[in-house]
Amino acid sequence: MSEALCNRIVNRIETNGPMRFGDYMAMALYEPGLGYYVNGLHKFGQTGDFVTAPEQGQLFARALARQFDALAAQIGPDWTLLELGAGSGALTRDLLSNLDQPPARYLILDTSAALREIQAETLSVLPDELRSRVQWIATPPTEAFEGVTLANEVIDALPVSVFERADGTLFERAVTVRENRLAWARIEPATRLVEAVAALQSRLPETLREPYVSETCLELGGWIKTVTEPLSRGLALFIDYGYPRAEYYHRQRSGGTLVCHYRHRAHFDPFVWPGLTDISAFVDFSLAAEAGAEAGLELAGFTSQAGFLLALGAHEFVDQADDERERIRLAAELKRLILPAEMGEKFKVLGLARGLNGNIPGFDLASQHHRL
Ligand SMILES: C[S@@+](CC[C@H](N)C(=O)[O-])C[C@H]1O[C@@H](n2cnc3c(N)ncnc32)[C@H](O)[C@@H]1O
Repeated sequence: MSEALCNRIVNRIETNGPMRFGDYMAMALYEPGLGYYVNGLHKFGQTGDFVTAPEQGQLFARALARQFDALAAQIGPDWTLLELGAGSGALTRDLLSNLDQPPARYLILDTSAALREIQAETLSVLPDELRSRVQWIATPPTEAFEGVTLANEVIDALPVSVFERADGTLFERAVTVRENRLAWARIEPATRLVEAVAALQSRLPETLREPYVSETCLELGGWIKTVTEPLSRGLALFIDYGYPRAEYYHRQRSGGTLVCHYRHRAHFDPFVWPGLTDISAFVDFSLAAEAGAEAGLELAGFTSQAGFLLALGAHEFVDQADDERERIRLAAELKRLILPAEMGEKFKVLGLARGLNGNIPGFDLASQHHRL
């Protein structure tokens, strides 16, 4: 699998010259039949490469369900939930099982056909009445809806461009072939990248030091606009690992934030086993919030995953456990979700709203929007 993808990448580089990193990441993750997210190999959970919050157990979904029930109370029973990048379908299943007021329509938009099949299998345990509310869609709905747009760990999988500042010059980092291996190369930066780096630099408190390597997602603004466009009233939630801009481009983070996962090991070499290794980048949440503002959404809140889940009372589920064994299991799950050294602080929640009056309970405890 990886060999076939490698050959395709190498052929393309030999024909066209060094490949921009964003194009390489897009091939490594999404090349039809071969890319990491589309090749049908197992990725999620203890036997895969990484464990996302919904894969830990039901606490994450149960807390989110409280947030969405509060919204459904405002919007009414005919609400829609659009989930982007549903992975194994665990979050879909557990949201539908735990919502007091399930959405009238639960739309899933996922670019991976292989994962869409796995999602359908995961949802087969649901009663027909709930399962029949789920529809898979290939593009965001053209008709407006009221409700929720949700993306957990999706933005980190959007291809990024890598830039390097050195010797007073801005370079774009590309992928070449050297001694029969994929390797980094410097090329002249694309105009869009030059503009994006200038824009981020103008919003930073100090000039980027040299040498400095980092990345930015040129597609993020367009993607957020597209996926939130149909939301006529409601909340868009983006949950992911990331930082506000000043922390993302801090002088000490001079090597960028690219991170790869293979069988629960994190490493930083995106050229190892393309197609078998997950490649991701942290999210610049300031950029995401600005994209939301450009798309006409209001900032509803920004906080850590720990702050969000605790505001929704995730800890109460531990005390409500049926027996001691379950209580211990839930306490361990909660710790993984909220402790600072686990997912609690690294993961953030960005809420963007349109036309809502009431407060958003998840941001009640510890809103950090001033950090954006
Ligand atoms: C890291 S997984 C997260 C899965 C799930 N949300 C979870 O929390 O377990 C990323 C998911 O996003 C999907 N994906 C990647 N790019 C996407 C895009 N542009 N639009 C929709 N889904 C996308 C992948 O196929 C995969 O299902």
